Amino acid sequence: MAELVVAGSGPQALTLCCLLLQKRPQWRRRLRVLDPSGTWLERWNTQMRRYEIPWLRSPSPHHPHPNPHALRRFAQERQRGAELEGPYGLPHTQLFSDFCRSVVADFQLADRVQAVAVERIRLAPAGDNPLELDLSDGSVLAPRRLVIATGAEAPVLPGWVRAIEDPYPADALQHSHNLDLGACPGLAGQHLVIVGGGLTSAHLALGAIRRGARVSLFCRRALRRKPFDADPGWLGPRYLKDFRAEPCWHRRRQQVLAARDGGSITPELASRLQQAQAAGALQLNEGCQIASARWRQGQWQLHCRDGRRHQADRL
Ligand SMILES: Cc1cc2nc3c(=O)[nH]c(=O)nc-3n(C[C@H](O)[C@H](O)[C@H](O)COP(=O)(O)OP(=O)(O)OC[C@H]3O[C@@H](n4cnc5c(N)ncnc54)[C@H](O)[C@@H]3O)c2cc1C
Ligand SMILES: NC(=O)c1ccc[n+]([C@@H]2O[C@H](COP(=O)([O-])OP(=O)(O)OC[C@H]3O[C@@H](n4cnc5c(N)ncnc54)[C@H](OP(=O)(O)O)[C@@H]3O)[C@@H](O)[C@H]2O)c1
Repeated sequence: MAELVVAGSGPQALTLCCLLLQKRPQWRRRLRVLDPSGTWLERWNTQMRRYEIPWLRSPSPHHPHPNPHALRRFAQERQRGAELEGPYGLPHTQLFSDFCRSVVADFQLADRVQAVAVERIRLAPAGDNPLELDLSDGSVLAPRRLVIATGAEAPVLPGWVRAIEDPYPADALQHSHNLDLGACPGLAGQHLVIVGGGLTSAHLALGAIRRGARVSLFCRRALRRKPFDADPGWLGPRYLKDFRAEPCWHRRRQQVLAARDGGSITPELASRLQQAQAAGALQLNEGCQIASARWRQGQWQLHCRDGRRHQADRL
């Protein structure tokens, strides 16, 4: 019987499983991890490859092993210290991936992910276990505890995208969620509009420019430059003490959103965007929001809230 079911096998699920097994090895028998990918960190590895991300934004102590020094030690033992970038030791993508594979092996978790999705959670009518889970293979599980670690949900599209009425070619409008830079044909010579002021937009802009496209980046606020998503005080007791003392989940979420404060890019990517701007490959539209988009004669006609109009081949 599975007493603890973890839905999802991303970095959060792996972190939790390692910590649990380190503290309570006897839980191994009672633990089940469910993810349609059937493997660890599939979504993570896919997004890194698709957006061609050379290294992480998060510093070296940030990883699924319970010992914060484990990644640095892993790199040093393999003479791969050069793959820890800059003063914060930002791990190169391949190093991080190899390290996570070794963590999975060390904790004997390699064959623990069952390739099914949790489709529905129900309160059980009676009995010892409070929950029933309907799984995508048609079976039902009744664990005592469930951890939902399923990551970000489906893309949230702005209202003006949902309001587009004209038919348009599928690859003329894409959300980053479904985008694979390497599989985007014919970018050379095209004009792309990318909406967003976070690191994903910045990487996609630079990737498209590398392929010969001209990019206009639209950020609804001014582009913000920060080494990390949130103040490093959130990694330790400075802010976490009060956060953990807050019993209300809604207020906790508000604290998280305030600490995150929307999207931002690293100073390194900011300077690469600046170079692209200077070279004429990038136009930066800060404080600019699209109000409507129409597909006319093979192009996007974009109307912004400030009254300006733009054209683009792809969004
Ligand atoms: C391009 C990019 C780069 C990033 N770089 C960094 C970085 O450098 N450093 C950093 O700390 N963070 C980074 N992030 C953020 C990081 O990806 C997320 O914070 C992290 O992946 C969240 O982990 P997670 O385990 O919660 O979810 P995910 O990694 O999203 O994993 C969730 C898993 O749940 C599974 N799942 C979904 N629905 C179900 C279901 N119904 N039943 C069972 N399983 C299900 C999915 O298949 C998936 O495998 C980056 C994000 C992006 C998009
Ligand atoms: N390792 C790496 O190099 C790397 C690469 C990519 C991503 N990441 C990480 O992955 C996480 C997600 O990054 P992300 O860039 O995908 O998301 P993000 O940081 O949340 O940024 C999303 C951006 O979209 C904008 N936005 C949202 N809704 C909008 C709307 N309706 N109209 C216009 N703009 C809208 C937001 O604007 P506001 O800012 O105004 O809210 C924000 O700038 C972050 O933790 C990031 O650090 C890391």
